[in-house]
Amino acid sequence: MTSVRELLHCAADLPGDSALRDAEVLLCHCADKSRSWLYAWPECEVGSAVADHYRRCLAARRLGHPVAHLTGRREFWSLELEVNAHTLIPRPETETLVEWALQLPMPEDAQVIDLGTGSGAIILALASERDNWHFLGVDSSAMALAVARSNGQRLGLERVRFELSDWFGGVAEERFHLMVGNPPYIEQHDPHLGMGDLRFEPTEALISGAAGLADLAYLVNKAPEHLFPGGWLLLEHGFEQGDAVRQQLQGRGFTDVQTRKDISGQERITGGCRGAE
Ligand SMILES: C[S@@+](CC[C@H](N)C(=O)[O-])C[C@H]1O[C@@H](n2cnc3c(N)ncnc32)[C@H](O)[C@@H]1O
Repeated sequence: MTSVRELLHCAADLPGDSALRDAEVLLCHCADKSRSWLYAWPECEVGSAVADHYRRCLAARRLGHPVAHLTGRREFWSLELEVNAHTLIPRPETETLVEWALQLPMPEDAQVIDLGTGSGAIILALASERDNWHFLGVDSSAMALAVARSNGQRLGLERVRFELSDWFGGVAEERFHLMVGNPPYIEQHDPHLGMGDLRFEPTEALISGAAGLADLAYLVNKAPEHLFPGGWLLLEHGFEQGDAVRQQLQGRGFTDVQTRKDISGQERITGGCRGAE
């Protein structure tokens, strides 16, 4: 038998800058306990099955596997989401997009689409906040959509629709008051792709052409055909892509074009309004 304190102590060499936090998350997962339980009972002896599972998780973490893949869970907007190797692991900076979307002037029964929904993080967060809006998440990955649907059911948000679609291809006849999206936006040869969690995430969720701007440009160009007059488009992008996305939106006739910074102070979300006709 080994104590909680000893098990956490042997994880100091985990990669990344959050070794202790990662160890706590993994031990909670293996022991099926809360973080407050760990803090309250550091001397508690842990059974050998739990300790063995935890040590296997530490070994995988030392090889670089993301903590979210080891637990199968990631918290986003206070929702516990299932994630796996077919979905992007939702990032805290994407919560800036959710906050902005909830501040926009929208009709009571707004039609909302999430472009490239992955685990469903953005659209499920919005649905958890607005009972009367209508929600659709699309993705070109059937495996990601299976995770998104499962998340919707587990969270009691079955009213969110999820559809397989190559961007607007499967929803050609539909119109929306609000479009949100966190499309792939990393350059093909970006060295970060060989580092950290990115190594284990699906490349189709990450890479977008040589300069990382291909999908952002496509969505900006197509969006007006699917937006009601006065509707809004909000897109997440790389921290150095704000200027390019603002220019794309302005060039396509959007008004009120603005960029918001994420919690690290980096330009991250750019959006605009489709002017009334
Ligand atoms: C950066 S991930 C974002 C996932 C999720 N929205 C989030 O923020 O955690 C981009 C998503 O876009 C999807 N995607 C890539 N190309 C697509 C396309 N042509 N049509 C629809 N979805 C696409 C990927 O499968 C992936 O789930």
